[in-house]
Amino acid sequence: MGVARTAEGSERDTVLRVQGLDVDYLTERGVVAAVRDMTFSLRAGEIVGIAGESGCGKSTLAHAVCGLLHPPARIRQGRIELGGQDLVGLSERAMRSIRWERIAIVPQSAMNNLSPVLRIGDQIADAILAHRPSTRPQAREKARALLQMVGMLGHHAASYPHELSGGMRQRAVIAMALALHPEVLVLDEPTTALDVMVQATILGAIRDLRDQLGFAVLLITHDLPLLLQTVDRILVMYGGRLVESGSADGIWRRPRHPYTQALLEAFPPLTGPRRRLNAIQGLPPNLLQPPVGCGFAPRCPLTMDRCEEQRPPWTIQGDAAAACWRLDGEGEA
Ligand SMILES: Nc1ncnc2c1ncn2[C@@H]1O[C@H](COP(=O)(O)OP(=O)(O)OP(=O)(O)O)[C@@H](O)[C@H]1O
Ligand SMILES: [Mg+2]
Repeated sequence: MGVARTAEGSERDTVLRVQGLDVDYLTERGVVAAVRDMTFSLRAGEIVGIAGESGCGKSTLAHAVCGLLHPPARIRQGRIELGGQDLVGLSERAMRSIRWERIAIVPQSAMNNLSPVLRIGDQIADAILAHRPSTRPQAREKARALLQMVGMLGHHAASYPHELSGGMRQRAVIAMALALHPEVLVLDEPTTALDVMVQATILGAIRDLRDQLGFAVLLITHDLPLLLQTVDRILVMYGGRLVESGSADGIWRRPRHPYTQALLEAFPPLTGPRRRLNAIQGLPPNLLQPPVGCGFAPRCPLTMDRCEEQRPPWTIQGDAAAACWRLDGEGEA
């Protein structure tokens, strides 16, 4: 199952491949099936967005690919290949030489977790010194250059976090993540707390940096319309599973899964006339007792009998794919 890529060229430039990944949280109340059967790949220089509402497993997936899961989380099965090397089961020591060097993450709320007592430039310089042999003046100079690269001014290096706007702090944590020139940058809700104009400039900066530096991006947000503007490809998650994948343009023109359709209707349109927003009624599935069939069935306006009974097959249609019984039989052999 999953997003099969057959073209040789696409296979060759794959930097990250996640295959059949299951992640659990082992809690006193039972096993939380946070991520199930996630399969996708990321090509060099590609920006892939992951969308889905709160609790669908986005951050769990982001932490898994960066080797940052700790108990009670555990990877039940699956592979996470970076440049062909499986990261699952690597020791923390081995992972430390990969994380930040080759795959860097800006965690959810990172901009609020900057140290309040250190200047921005020093925080970046400290991080550089922890990984690269260099002198403090060299690391400070590098920090200044990184801040300029993300659209800040050199003198911002001397600022404390509270002296900067949210947008500037977000740029600073992105600069820090890019310090060692990673092949993959994972951004977990990088613009959620920011106003719409600042969101747009930050996402524009990420695209520009990708064009200049060639890294691939996994961009996570609950805001699907925002992704449509920014990314090349979109993965939609629901209840820990992938329910749809496709190009940003394809998902905007023809969302295949009823959940994707509902997500698009739940946000104000970016362009065009104002319209009534439709909140998605009901709640996501309880991941302590994952549903047998389609997790969206209880909330789906198009549900049929078998939706709750059997898991829908992954149906591939051109470069789009979705897991919905309504598409069954329409797919390609
Ligand atoms: N430490 C933990 N212990 C137990 N369950 C957890 C833990 N962290 C997350 N979960 C559960 O795992 C599921 C996925 O959580 P996750 O944080 O990955 O979702 P998310 O999509 O990132 O949500 P949000 O949009 O709110 O950030 C949720 O059901 C959540 O309650
Ligand atoms: Mg999250």
